[in-house]
Amino acid sequence: MNLKGRSFLKLLDFTPEEILYLVDLAAELKEKKKKGISTQEMHRGKNVALIFEKTSTRTRCAFEVAAHDLGIGATYLDPSGSQIGKKESIADTARVLGGMYEGIEYRGFEQEIVEELAKYAGVPVWNGLTNEFHPTQMLADVLTIKEKLGRIRGVKLTYMGDARYNMGNSLMVVSAKLGMHFTACTSPDYFPDRKLVEQCREIAKQTGGEILLTDSVEEGTRGADVIYTDVWVSMGEPDEVWGERIRKLSPYQVNAKAMQNAGEGAIFMHCLPAFHDLKTGIGREIGEKFGITEMEVTDEVFESPASVVFQEAENRMHTIKAVMAATL
Ligand code: CP
Ligand code: NVA
Repeated sequence: MNLKGRSFLKLLDFTPEEILYLVDLAAELKEKKKKGISTQEMHRGKNVALIFEKTSTRTRCAFEVAAHDLGIGATYLDPSGSQIGKKESIADTARVLGGMYEGIEYRGFEQEIVEELAKYAGVPVWNGLTNEFHPTQMLADVLTIKEKLGRIRGVKLTYMGDARYNMGNSLMVVSAKLGMHFTACTSPDYFPDRKLVEQCREIAKQTGGEILLTDSVEEGTRGADVIYTDVWVSMGEPDEVWGERIRKLSPYQVNAKAMQNAGEGAIFMHCLPAFHDLKTGIGREIGEKFGITEMEVTDEVFESPASVVFQEAENRMHTIKAVMAATL
C-alpha cells in the first residue's frame, strides 16, 4: 500500500483497503508508543503547518504530539494568527506554505477550502475538520470500535442528534465504506444530505453496509452496537440556533433508556467536546437559559462503563500519526 504524496481530505476519496490500512498502521504505531519504541527516524527533519481557523483541543494536540513522535517539526497557526482568507487567498497561502512545509493540516469552514488548499499546495493536505467532514476522527473511531468490539464489518452504529453536519456525514461515509450498518436516528430535518445518502447507499451495495434514516428512537437504537452523538450546535454556527436544536433534538438525547434498548455490550461514543453537565461556560449559559442540565448525552451515560470516549480521544493521536506517516 503506497499513500505517499496523497492528501487526506475526505474518506470518499479512499478505498476500503486504504482506510483499513491506515487503521492498522495506527494500531502498530500505538503499540510501538506503548512499548517505548521510538519512531522519530521515520520522518526526521520534515516540517508541517497546522492551520486552525476554528478552535481545537484533540486535533491540535494529536497533530503536535504525532509530529514530534515522527521527528517532524510543527508550526501552529491559530484562528487569528495568519493572513489566510483575510489578506491572502487560499491558493496563495497554499503555494507559500507548500514551499516551506512537507505537509499542511487545515481545520476550518467549507470543504471546498481544504480541497482548494490541496489543489495548490503541492504537498499532502490533511483535513482536520470542515463543516462537511471530519475524516481523521473517523480513523480514530474505527480503531476504537475494532479494539472494543473486535470487528468492524456488520457493526450497527446509530448516530443520534444533528446528522447533517461533519460527524453525521463522516460516520455515514465510513460505515458505507467499511460495511457497517449506519442509522441516523433523529428528527427528519436533521437527516444527512439526500445526495450523500444516495452516494453512500451505492457504496454500501459493494461492501455489505446499510444506511437507515429514522425518527424513531425505539427503532433506531434497537440492537445497536455503538450509540454515537455529537454536540447539537457546531463550531461556527450562531447562538440563535440553540433554542431550535434543544427543542428538536432533545428526544434524541443519548440516555440510559437509549443505551438499554441497544445491543448487549453496546458502547457509547462521542467525538468530544461534550455537554453532559454544567461544568463548562457554554454549558452553564445554555443550561440556565433553557432550564436543562445535560444536552446530547446524560452525565450518567457519559460516565458509565459503556462510554469509550477517552480511549477514542487518545486514538486521535495514533491515527493522525498514521496519516502523516503514510502520506509524507
Ligand atoms: N473531536 C475533535 O475534533 O476535538 P477538537 O475539536 O478538540 O479537536
Ligand atoms: N460537529 C462538531 C464536531 C467537533 C469535533 C463541530 O463541528 O463543532
